[in-house]
Amino acid sequence: MPEFILVNSQVAPFVAHVQLNRPKELNALNLELMLEIKEALLSLDADPNVRAIVISGNERAFAAGADIKQMAGRTAIDMLIIDQFTTWDSIRKTKKPLIAAVSGFALGGGCELAMICDMIIASETAQFGQPEINIGVMPGAGGTQRLTRIIGKNKAMELVLTGKFISAEEAKAYGLVNKIVPVEFFLSEAIALASDIASKSPIAVQMAKESVLKAYEMPLQEALFFERKNFYMLFATEDQKEGMAAFVEKRKAEFKGK
Ligand code: HXC
Repeated sequence: MPEFILVNSQVAPFVAHVQLNRPKELNALNLELMLEIKEALLSLDADPNVRAIVISGNERAFAAGADIKQMAGRTAIDMLIIDQFTTWDSIRKTKKPLIAAVSGFALGGGCELAMICDMIIASETAQFGQPEINIGVMPGAGGTQRLTRIIGKNKAMELVLTGKFISAEEAKAYGLVNKIVPVEFFLSEAIALASDIASKSPIAVQMAKESVLKAYEMPLQEALFFERKNFYMLFATEDQKEGMAAFVEKRKAEFKGK
C-alpha cells in the first residue's frame, strides 16, 4: 500500500484518481512519494478499465515542491547516484492522458509535476511558481524547459529568476492553465474533463497525446511524419470503423479500445 498517495482506479467510469497525500508538508515531493506516483501510473497505464488519470493534491496545495528537508544535506554525487529523474521520465512516459487538478500551491517540483500532466484544471486559489532560486538552486525537473515552451521565454525567465508566484488568472492568461473553477469544483471539473476524454477511442487518444508531445521533442518535419504514421495506424482500429459508421448513421459511437 502506498504511504504518501491515495489511488482510486475508478473515481468515475474509466477515470482514475491519484491524490498526493502529505497534507502537513503541503505535499512536498519526497523521493518515496514520487516513486509511488510512478508505480501507480505504471499500473493504471496497464489497466484496460482506465482511460484517463487525474492527479491532484488537496485544496491548500497541489505540491509545494521537492522535499527541501530531504534534499538539504545532499551532495552533487548523492543527487547523481539517487538519479531521481528516471522516476520523472517514467511519469512522462504515461500513455494515458494525465490531468492535473491544482488548488493552492504548485511550486517548484509541484509546478513541474503539473506541467508533466497534459492539461491543468486550476481552482481560483491556485498559485504557480518556480521558487528554487530562493533556496540557491534552479528547477531540475523541466521548469526551465517545459515552462519556457508553454509560456514563452520572457515570462519563464521572470518566474525562474525571481521565484515569484503567479495566480491562476495569470497562469491561464499565459496558457499554463486550461480552465479555472471555484475551489469546490477543481477536482470534479478535472474528473469531468477526464470523463469526456475517456468516452473517446482510447487508442486514438493515446496516439494523439503522443503526437502532440512530439511538437516539443522533434523538429517539425519529423514530427509531422510521426503524426501521419499515427493517423494512418488508426485506420487499423475497430474504433475508427465504429466512429465513422456512427457519424454516418447519426448515432453515438461506442468505442472499445480495439
Ligand atoms: C519540505 C515543506 C515544503 C517543501 C512546505 N513545507 N514546503 N517541506 N519541502 N518544499 C513544509 C513546511 O516546512 C512546514 O512544515 C509545512 O510544510 C507548512 O508550510 P509553511 O511554510 O508553514 O506554510 P506557509 O507559511 O503557508 O507557506 C507556504 C509556502 C512555503 C509558501 C508554500 O511553505 C514555501 O515557500 N515552501 C517551499 C516552496 C519551495 O521553495 N519549493 C521549491 C522546492 S525545490 P513545518 O514542519 O515547519 O510545519 C524543488 C526542486 C525540484 O522543488 C527539483 C526536481 C525534483
